[in-house]
Parts: sequence; structure tokens; C-alpha cells
Amino acid sequence: MIEHPSIKKILYGGDYNPEQWPAEIWEEDMRMFQLAGIDVVTLNVFNWAMLQPDEDTYQFDKLDQIMELVQAHNLKVCMATSTAAHPAWMARKYPEILRTEFSGMKRKFGSRHNSCPNSSIYRTYSTRLAEKIGERYGHLDNIVAWHISNEYGGECYCENCEKAFRTWLEKRYGSIEKVNQAWNTSFWSHTFYDFDDIVAPNLLSEHFEENRTNFQGISLDYKKFMSESILDCYKLEAAVLKNITPSIPITTNLMGFYKPLDYFKWADEMDFISWDNYPSNDELYCSTAMKHELMRGLKQGKPFALMEQTPSVTNWLPYNSLKRPGVMRLWSYQAVAHGADTIMFFQMRRSIGACEKYHGAVIDHVGTEDTRVFRELAKLGEELQILGSKTLGARHQSKVAIYFDWENWWAIEYSAGPSVNLKYYDQLLAYYQALNTMNISVDIVSEKDSFTDYDLIIAPVLYMVKEGLDEKIRSFVKNGGTFVTTFFSGYVNETDLVTTGGYPGKLRDILGIWVEELDALPNGTNNSFVYQNQTFSSSLICDLLHAERAQVLSVYEQDFYAGMPVLTRNQFGEGLAYYVATQSDDSFYQKFLSELLNEKHIKPVVDVPAGVEATKRYNENGCFLFLLNHNPEDAMITLEENGVELLTGDNINKNTAFLLKTKDVKIIQL
Ligand code: GLA
Ligand code: ZN
Repeated sequence: MIEHPSIKKILYGGDYNPEQWPAEIWEEDMRMFQLAGIDVVTLNVFNWAMLQPDEDTYQFDKLDQIMELVQAHNLKVCMATSTAAHPAWMARKYPEILRTEFSGMKRKFGSRHNSCPNSSIYRTYSTRLAEKIGERYGHLDNIVAWHISNEYGGECYCENCEKAFRTWLEKRYGSIEKVNQAWNTSFWSHTFYDFDDIVAPNLLSEHFEENRTNFQGISLDYKKFMSESILDCYKLEAAVLKNITPSIPITTNLMGFYKPLDYFKWADEMDFISWDNYPSNDELYCSTAMKHELMRGLKQGKPFALMEQTPSVTNWLPYNSLKRPGVMRLWSYQAVAHGADTIMFFQMRRSIGACEKYHGAVIDHVGTEDTRVFRELAKLGEELQILGSKTLGARHQSKVAIYFDWENWWAIEYSAGPSVNLKYYDQLLAYYQALNTMNISVDIVSEKDSFTDYDLIIAPVLYMVKEGLDEKIRSFVKNGGTFVTTFFSGYVNETDLVTTGGYPGKLRDILGIWVEELDALPNGTNNSFVYQNQTFSSSLICDLLHAERAQVLSVYEQDFYAGMPVLTRNQFGEGLAYYVATQSDDSFYQKFLSELLNEKHIKPVVDVPAGVEATKRYNENGCFLFLLNHNPEDAMITLEENGVELLTGDNINKNTAFLLKTKDVKIIQL
């Protein structure tokens, strides 16, 4: 949650760019915002060119006027630092700030996220701009957050970065011999004699495609280095702002499962998490839900800000379909159900030029409140007034966690073999989907989180086992926890060197199995297995394994490995460790996981019809049950407890069925 004394309700608003419009229109914006119940605007996201027209000049008059305007209308401000797109003069004068693409192509001025993160010129000027903004506006009490840059991204492969990478490696490994060991450079005569021999791994060197490298070790380290380099840019701006205004919380808008940046590391530097949610119309709602869980998990369950979503359409999908009536509201509350304490949009007024002019907005090109989208927005604005502060800060109580790790993600998908179809996100989602469908509360955890509060931890494809992680899992299971992992787990260490002595390496004793071979099944090829008298499909990967101490719960039915174990359970200390040696389908995951949940007496949030999502959040005001009907038809719900529906004030009586219309939401205080 954004900790600011003036926040007494779910903040409602979004990215507002009045500098792109004549000042005459601003009062009209204010009138419309008022009508829609808007109370927060994100300002100054892309204004560097306006704020610093040349190297020595800073001019704030227009931003001053905008700040006066929004202050006069009681709008809170999420104040951005404008550093996600550098000004043209800077590119002309200092070409070193320009980013070099993965292909080795040096960019010219244009686009955004276009700066080299290791350029000292970029770093100096971006930090200075943040400082100037902090000094000028930091005293204003309607600033509720600093919003640094925007959607950080843009990996760079330029010479600045290459040099910085060498320094980074020297610091990390101490000597070139250690680097050679870590990357196994005796392969293909790659031995480095000096740090200066090392070049950035891209299309000009180790890679033949973005995700395909000849040397996983260097590519993985470069990913880590890039994530940290970009984070360093954030940290520099954050530090000057913290110094000027220690009490204004700082964030930057994240993007869910954004592969290039290890957000678990970023989260440590952020006062609260904020993120931009842009599902396509055909995205499974559980996939969106899983992204919210990740964002909440970044700070151990702390509520987050939904910084952006579109009120209606995007401009960048192949097919930019409208959010159907009711869907903007449904997905807004879905964010709240999973931990958001703000509902914000991109953009407040639809621009007239460049690539976002057909992107949805609160105020459309027609310019009036007489639009479907505006009516839906105003209705939601009213509801948030009614809801007030009740749910703010409320947390989830989960007994189940899914383990996730960015470096593991990079390593799995850089791996040459076993299958190009093996995608970490899909494997996480397979397990999450089953749990979400059953309305089981799930957290997403990382290596730095405590495992002790959970009864069940699932770590799909735990390919990379980092130093200490096996010990953490060992003690979790020893003390009674249930642990699940899958095929292609326990193979390598942090630098992608194989742990010899049998897969799954350091997890072998916990799981009580030994994996001898791994078979990849091409698309459309399947094996099968019987579990609890039902036949399930096996696809993608089949591990050929031997049970050492583990009990065999099911075996493959086909191929030369018919009869070998596909599902095992090992009693380890007080707990159980399960190994799922293949990919199956949703019916299996639901069946299998419901067995485990039963063993652990973990119950769904509530029992509701399929397609109705349910979550609970708790704070000092009590427990809030969110019911979201994602179905195209209405649903009947019966609860076992009494409650009050907060948006309507209706009493909900236990054991009495009530209607939840299609796309409708109920927030029930139990
Ligand atoms: C991102 C950016 C915004 C805008 C939207 C459009 O989230 O942060 O500036 O470009 O996408 O969807
Ligand atoms: Zn660079």
C-alpha cells in the first residue's frame, strides 16, 4: 500500500499528460475527473525535453502550472521523474547515451527506453533531473509517491556496457580463472586470458537467437548484470529523492512476469510495488491473477498499486479489442481482490498524435462524458467512494506457495535442450491455474522468503538450485511441509554447471529418486499414466527415473519406459516430497493437488461455481471476501457465513443462495 496520511480510499486515476494539450482544456479535464471520482493523477512521465531544453537550462513553469491546477482541484499526485526517454539534444551531443540492441545495432535518437543504462552521462543527467524535481515539488503535500522513470527495460550491448560487465565480473569472481571455471570455458576453446577478452553475449558473439546461446554461463551473467545495471539507474534517482523527501514513498511501474528484470531484487529498493496490467481479452483470468500474486509476493504480501491498465483498448496488440461492458470493472476489482490498493489507468485524455492516439482513455477524442467507457468509469468511481478505506492494507492468508525465480527462468530458457516448448511461465501457470480454479489462496515466494508459514510449496521446473536453497527445502520438508517439484529439476548450480552424481542433484535425498534420462516429446506426441483410477496425458518431457526411497504413485503406460515411475512421493522427516516427472493437463493438476490439499486440510476460500473467482483479504476491519464472476452467465452463490456486501449494503445471509450476475463483483465483509 502507498503509505501516505492523506490516503483514505482506493486511489482512482492515472497517467495525465496535460502538457500535450493547450491550457484552455485543462479546466474541462478537471470537471470530467470530478465527475468520474478521480482523485489521483500520475504526472510528468515523459517530459524531459520540456523540463531541460538544453544542457544548462531547466524550466519548470509549465509543470508548476499543472501542479497548481491539480492542487486546486484536490488531486493527489504520483510524480514521475521523466527519465524514460532522453531529450534529443542529449543524443546529439552525447551519442554514448544511445542504446545498442541485441543485434549489435546502435540506435539513433527516437522511441523511448532508449538510453544506455551504463552511460555515465545518462546517469548523471537523469539523477540530476530527479533531484531538481524533488527539490522543486517535494514540499507539496499532495504528492503521494515518486514514480521513477517508467516501465524500466531496454537491455544494452554497447561498449559502455561491455566495460561495465568486465568490472562486474571481476568483482563477482575475483579472477579470470574463476570466470573460466564458472562458465566451463575449456569447451570450444573459449578460455579467457584477461577480462578484456570478454565481450557482451549477443548476436555478434555467443548467440544465434535472442534466447539461444552457445554459452549459458556468460549469457546468464549478462542477464543478471543488465538487470542490476538498470536497477542502478533507478537506485541513483531513488537515493536523491529519499534524501530530499524521506517520507514520500518511491516506486516504479513494473510489468508482471517481465523476463529481463529480476524484480525480487528490485523490490528491495522500492517502498511499494506498482505495476501495469494489460491482459488481452483472451488471456485466462488465472494468468492475470498469477501476475497479481507475483506483484504482491515481491514484498511479502504487501498490497500494491495498480498503476496502469486501459479503460477500454490498447494500441499495441495485433487485435485491439474493446473491453466488453463490465470487464473494466471486473478486472479492476480482480486487482483489488489480489492485493491492489489503487485502480489507475493509462491514459486520462486520449492523445491526438503518435502511437497512443487510439489507446483507451478516461476522456475520449469526442471530449464529453457521454460515452460508454466514461459511464462505466464514473460508476466505478462512485463505488470506490462507498468502499472508502475499509479494505486498505488488507492482506491474504495463504497456506500454499508457488516458488519462482528469475535466474531459474533465464537458465531454463537459455538451455540447449531438452525442448524449445519448455516455458517456465506455462509450467508455473499449470499449477497456479489448478489452485486458482479451486479458489485456493496462493502466494508466490522467492528464495529470500521464509517458507515456514506454508504447508505446501510447489516449485515447478526447479532447474537451477542455488546455494542454500536445497537446505531451505530440506528443512521445510523435514519439519512437516509438503514439497512438489517436477521434471528438469535440480540439474545445475547458479552458473549453469551440472551437479554430477545423478539428477535431481542436491534435491535427490529429499525426493528419494534418481533421474537417469529425460525424453522430450515433440508437439502432438503423448504418453499416459493412471492416477487414482483415471488415465491422464503426459506430454512435453518425460523423466526416466528410479525410485530410491520414494513410493511410486503412478507409472508411464507407453514406450520403452512403460512401467517406470512418473509420479512419486517421498516421506522425508515429518514431511512429504512429490516428484511429477512429466507435464500433464489441468484435470490431472486439479486431482493431484486436491489430494495434497486434503492431506494438509487446506480449504478453498469458499465453495462457489466454476468460473467464479474468490479471494479473501484481512485487515483490522475484518475479513473481506471478493467474488468475481468471470463466466458469460450468471451464477448462484451460497455462503456458510453471514456478511454485508459493501458496494450495495445488502445483507448476505448464510445458507441462502444469491445471484452473482455475469461479470459482476461482490465484496462481502464477513
Ligand atoms: C505502458 C506505458 C504507458 C503507455 C501504456 C500503453 O504501460 O507505461 O506509458 O505506453 O503502456 O498501453
Ligand atoms: Zn550500453
